[in-house]
Parts: sequence; C-alpha cells; structure tokens
Amino acid sequence: MTLDEVIERRRSVRAYVNRPVEADKVRAVCEAARQAPSACNSQTWRFVIADDRALIERICREGMRTILPNRWLEQAPVIIVGCSVLDILANRVGSMVTGIEYYQIDLAIAMEHMVLKAVELGLGTCWIGWFRERKIKEILHIPRRVRVTALLAMGYPQEPLPEPRPRKEMKDIVFHNSWTSSLPF
Ligand SMILES: Cc1cc2nc3c(=O)[nH]c(=O)nc-3n(C[C@H](O)[C@H](O)[C@H](O)COP(=O)(O)O)c2cc1C
Repeated sequence: MTLDEVIERRRSVRAYVNRPVEADKVRAVCEAARQAPSACNSQTWRFVIADDRALIERICREGMRTILPNRWLEQAPVIIVGCSVLDILANRVGSMVTGIEYYQIDLAIAMEHMVLKAVELGLGTCWIGWFRERKIKEILHIPRRVRVTALLAMGYPQEPLPEPRPRKEMKDIVFHNSWTSSLPF
C-alpha cells in the first residue's frame, strides 16, 4: 500500500469484527509509534495496551463520560492508552518558554503513526479524546506525574468501512505567504 492509499483508506472505525489482533501486529503498530519524532527527541510517550475483555469493559463502563459515552468502544479488541510522562526536563523547560505543550504534540504524532501503520496491516482505529482521565489512570495504575492524552481503539474493521467524512476546501485552510492571501494552486 502506498502512503496515499493508506491515507485514503483511513477512517475512524467504530465497528469491529469479533477477532483478536495478533501480537505481532500490535507490536508493529507500537514500533511505528516508537519511530516518531518528538521535541528534543524526549520521547515522552508511553502506551498501555489493553486487550483483556473484562478490562476493556471496565474502561468503557467507568472511564467514559455520561454525555457521549462512546459505547461502541466496548466491542474493540484492543484499546491503546496514550500517556505522556511530564518530568522530562528538556520538554518542561521548552514548554515553559514557549507555552506549547510539546508532550501533547509528541503523543499525537506517535499515535497517528500507529493509526497509519494499522491501516497498512488491515486494521482499523478510532481516536478517543472524550474520556475521564482520572478514572482511566486509576483503572490502569498510571502514576501521578503521567497524563493520559488520548485513547485509540483498534481491531479488524467491519466492512464496508464508513463513508469519508467531509473536509474543508484547501482554500479555507491553507494560505500563501500571508493569512490574507489564498493559495495560487
Ligand atoms: C483528538 C481526537 C479525539 C477524538 N475523539 C473521539 C471520541 O471520543 N469518540 C469518537 O467516536 N470519535 C472521536 N474522534 C474521531 C473524530 O470524530 C473523527 O476523526 C472525525 O469525525 C473525522 O472522521 P474520520 O476520522 O473518519 O475521517 C476523535 C478524533 C481525534 C483526532
């Protein structure tokens, strides 16, 4: 699969077939994350792989929010819990100076590597940003100085894949030399 094909095939998948994901595929997805860039190469990301059915059910029961509870997540064979360690000095100093939370950028890049690798392996994923961080940390014994930034559901997708969601026009999101000039192409 070319990169264009991977990008074109990716969808947020919220319906999975009842089939476990092979350990070597989970490992390949984690390896794709491990190769991601990060601010000062600080590699602040950590991942908890949840594939135990009772654990996944508990994450869904207790770790989601009552408004938009992501109920479909209960059927996901794997949940990858994306964490960031906060006590890496270079990362913290950089964030204090610029006000940019580099650990969140690091984690998002690494997890999107996972998303794209998953597509290449025939898997589907869905980002979860709507969860109860405190509860997820408690369930998974995640230490105090670690943040949970995002979760990723992963499994073999039910076919057909969801239709593509609409995207803004290029002219509405990309500018040329100035915010006030549109693109020449
Ligand atoms: C940071 C982030 C958080 C998200 N959180 C959720 C979520 O909690 N529940 C959900 O069903 N989808 C979630 N999504 C998926 C988006 O709804 C989805 O990416 C968007 O609608 C575009 O659809 P597509 O991914 O199929 O192209 C999230 C996506 C991102 C990037």
